[in-house]
Amino acid sequence: MPRSAPHATSSPGSDSDVFDELRAFFGCAHVVPVGSGTTGLMLALCSIGVHGRVVIVPALTCVAVPLAVLAAGGSPRLVDVSPADGNLDLGATAAALDGDVAAIVAVDGFGYPAPVDALRALAGPYGCPVLEDACQAYGGRAAGGAPAGTLGDVGVISFGYAKNVWLNAGGLVLTDDAATAGDIVALQRAPDYALLSAVRSRTTLRLVVTNREALLPYLARWLGQLRYGFPAAQRERLPDAWRTFVAELDESRSALVEVVETLARFPGAQPFGPVAGDWLPWRPSVRIADDEVRHAFVATLAAAGVVATRLFPVIGSPYVGRGSQPCPEAHRIAAAIVNVKTSARAAATAQLAETLSHTLGAIA
Ligand SMILES: Cc1ncc(COP(=O)(O)O)c(C=O)c1O
Repeated sequence: MPRSAPHATSSPGSDSDVFDELRAFFGCAHVVPVGSGTTGLMLALCSIGVHGRVVIVPALTCVAVPLAVLAAGGSPRLVDVSPADGNLDLGATAAALDGDVAAIVAVDGFGYPAPVDALRALAGPYGCPVLEDACQAYGGRAAGGAPAGTLGDVGVISFGYAKNVWLNAGGLVLTDDAATAGDIVALQRAPDYALLSAVRSRTTLRLVVTNREALLPYLARWLGQLRYGFPAAQRERLPDAWRTFVAELDESRSALVEVVETLARFPGAQPFGPVAGDWLPWRPSVRIADDEVRHAFVATLAAAGVVATRLFPVIGSPYVGRGSQPCPEAHRIAAAIVNVKTSARAAATAQLAETLSHTLGAIA
C-alpha cells in the first residue's frame, strides 16, 4: 500500500478509540467505516474510477465481489484461479490484462493469501491498482508481517455474516491514501444517501427473502448496493468484538493451523496452501476429486457434528462481464472442494481441532 502523509480519518463518538486501535493494528493511515464488505468494495472501486471499464475478479469467489463491480458501474472480467490455492492465477491474469482494465480485485480466498505483490507487478504497467479483498482473511499476516488487507493499493474487510469479527454488517476500507479515504467519505455523504440507501436496503432484503437473488445484479446496476454508512448497532458492538478477536488471535491461529493439518491427513484430501507467514485460514479447505471419497469425508465430518460447506460455485450469469475467460481450474476446484466452517474464536476452534483429530486421526 503506498504511503502518504499520515492523516487519521476522524471517527466521531465514544468508539473513536477502537478506530485508533484498528489503524494501529493494520498500520494504515485511514480506516474508513462502511456499511458492509460489499459496500466497501463498491466505494473503493468508485474511488478508483471503474465506471464503464473492466475489473478483473477471480472466477471462484463470493458473488459479492462481481456484484460490487456492477454496483460501481464496472464490468467484471472473470479470471481463472491457481490450482495451488484457488486465488487469482498469475498467468491467467497476465493474459486477461489489457487497456480496458481499470482495477484488479485480489481476494484472499478462505483466508489463504492471494499473490498481491506479483499481481501489482503485473498491473503496474497498465496503471491499474490492485484492491485486496481481505473480507475472509483479516487477522492474518503475510510472511514479512504485513497484515492481510494492507498488501494492495487499497484493502477491504467485512464484519458481516460469519466473518472473523461477526457483527452481521459493517466493514472497513483500509488505505494510506488521503484522496481515496476522502472520496469514500464524500460518497457516503452524497445527498442521495438517506433515501437511496433505504430503498437499496429494503429492496435487497425483499429480493433475498423472496428467493429472487438473481435480480440483485440488476438492482446493483441501477441503484448501487446496500447501505453506505456503518450501522449504529454494529458501531456499538465493534469495540468489544474487535478487542476479543485480537486478544484471542494467537490462540485462534494455532488452533486453525491444527485444523488445517488434521484435515490434510484424511486419505485422498489435497490441502490448499501452503499457509506461509501467519495467515488465518477462515475456512480451512481441501480438495477431494473422487466423488465417493468426498461424500465419505463429508459424512464422517457430519457424524462428528462438523459443518462442511462447498464454497464457492463458479461465478456465472448474470455476474459475468466483458472478456471473461473460460476458467477450467475454477470448475475443477468447485467440483472437488470441501470447506470446514470455523469461527475465529479460540475455544471453539480448539474444540473443532480436537474433534477433527479424533475423528479423522482414527481413520487416517
Ligand atoms: C470475499 C468476500 N468479499 C466480500 C464479501 C462481502 O461482505 P459483506 O457480506 O459484508 O457485504 C464477502 C462476504 O461473504 C466475501 O466473502
